[in-house]
Formats: sequence, structure tokens, C-alpha cells
Amino acid sequence: MSWKHVCNIDQIPENTLKQFEIDGISIVIANYGDGFRAFPPYCPHMEEPLAGTGLIEDGVLTCSKHLWQWNMGSCEKLGMAEKELLIYELKCDDDKILVNMEKELIYQYDEADDDDDDFFD
Ligand code: FES
Repeated sequence: MSWKHVCNIDQIPENTLKQFEIDGISIVIANYGDGFRAFPPYCPHMEEPLAGTGLIEDGVLTCSKHLWQWNMGSCEKLGMAEKELLIYELKCDDDKILVNMEKELIYQYDEADDDDDDFFD
């Protein structure tokens, strides 16, 4: 276990997300009203930075780029989302937010399947 103090609770107002860099690893902390979540900084769809494109409302995180959504309470995908959000373990200790940063969570993105040059090979 490698719990790191990432920030304090009052740094993340309700329904907002903020990106942090801890020991060379970028993570986003979200306050979804009923609690906090920590996840990698990019959307699992197309590497959009969620600190910029992510919106939180009624406990749901939405990537505003193509509207993939996740329930922040259960972490389940919703609607059009095709991939799970990777989640770091998080706990609150008084006013501190601690995240288990033992291993960086990284998405595997599909190669674009639009290489028309293959036709002429
Ligand atoms: S990049 Fe986030 S939904 Fe497409």
C-alpha cells in the first residue's frame, strides 16, 4: 500500500474535479456530493483530459466530448459509455484526501482503424 496525501477536502468544492500530480503520476479527484473519487486524468474513450471535459451532476460524471457517463457512487458505466472508469482507492482522514498510488492506472486505447493506405499496399 502506498497512501499519498493528495489534497485537502476543502480544495475540491462539490460537483467539481481537479487534477493533481503526485510523484510523477497525474490523477483527478472528484467531489460528487456524497463523497470523493480518484481516477486517471484522461477519458477512457479518447484521452480527453477529464479535468477540462468532465462535468459532475447528480452523482454522475459526464465527459462532455462524446457524453460517456459513469455513476460516481457505484463507478458503473452509464448510457453510451463503453469502458469502465479506472478508480484509485481513496480515503479521507479528517480533512485530508489520501489515495493509494501503489500502481499507476493506465487505459489501453484502441488503434485507429482508419488507415486507408493499406488499400494501396
Ligand atoms: S473522449 Fe470522453 S466521451 Fe469521448
